[in-house]
Amino acid sequence: MSTEIPECLQSLKHFLSIQDLSSEALQALIDFSIRRKGQFKRGELKPVLERKVLAMLFQKSSLRTRLGFETAMIQLGGYAVCLEDHQIGLAKREEPKDIARVMSAMCDGIMARVKAHQILIELAARSTVPVINGLSDWSHPCQALADVMTLQEHFGSLTGRKLAFIGDGNNVARSLLSAGVKLGMSFALAAPKKYQFDDGVIQSAHDKAGKNGATIIQTEQPDEAAADADVLYTDVWTSMGQESERSAREADFTGYQINAALVKKARPKAVVMHCLPAYRGLEITDEVMDSSQSVVFQQAENRLHSQRALLEVLLGRRK
Ligand code: CP
Ligand code: NVA
Repeated sequence: MSTEIPECLQSLKHFLSIQDLSSEALQALIDFSIRRKGQFKRGELKPVLERKVLAMLFQKSSLRTRLGFETAMIQLGGYAVCLEDHQIGLAKREEPKDIARVMSAMCDGIMARVKAHQILIELAARSTVPVINGLSDWSHPCQALADVMTLQEHFGSLTGRKLAFIGDGNNVARSLLSAGVKLGMSFALAAPKKYQFDDGVIQSAHDKAGKNGATIIQTEQPDEAAADADVLYTDVWTSMGQESERSAREADFTGYQINAALVKKARPKAVVMHCLPAYRGLEITDEVMDSSQSVVFQQAENRLHSQRALLEVLLGRRK
């Protein structure tokens, strides 16, 4: 096992959700990602995954997740094989548990972007190699990892900062809530009632946050969420798989936009974030997305650096 991998991460088997990480492990993963990013920029990365193969399985479209993992594997001396659902028929042509056994026998890791989160749980249950969640209907932990990494680069410590998420309480928002509160960030969600977090999500975030002072509020008023915020974050109103709800969602979310007027409600040095892809003009304006307060493309770049660090942690220690 590489001695450079922080001790609290050495027993990490899979990366299915932020909830599975302790605050210490999450912090160590962020610090490790930032350290490796610096080494990468200085041309000092070692090919620690030489001849290792990552199988990537996609039930939904992707730019950042796929490119980030594939590029990271190449940069570490390994290789990534991309399998799209129409080629393998996940849960239709073949059951996840059988796919997991075959992939484990041939590859050193599995990254999957799935429709139903349960598929990831089934893959992980039968896989003997690490399984990484590359987005499910429930969560997007790789995104949250890159997001908190970006915030740490920008602000230093996140303790005591406030993040306002304007829009759907979706997969991205759930993972971000979990990551943020573990690091002592307060979280405010502004969404119409039916798109807010359910009690279980809030309770679990509170439990995992412990007594670090992070607070969680939900409101239907974007201005209320944005007040005193250090971070304004949004995502699409209609996620992949919800296309039939698009017109209803666009009507429901009217007014839940990050625009110049909302940015003025936040702290003067607040940053604006979006996981991308964005529907410019709906959940975020061009003006804000391309402004000096936007860290959207730093976030996107950090998908590569954090995923490369994650691959090293999970795959680097295995023969
Ligand atoms: N943010 C994100 O996961 O992007 P992709 O869907 O393009 O992978
Ligand atoms: N919530 C979005 C995120 C895309 C990266 C979706 O699931 O489509």
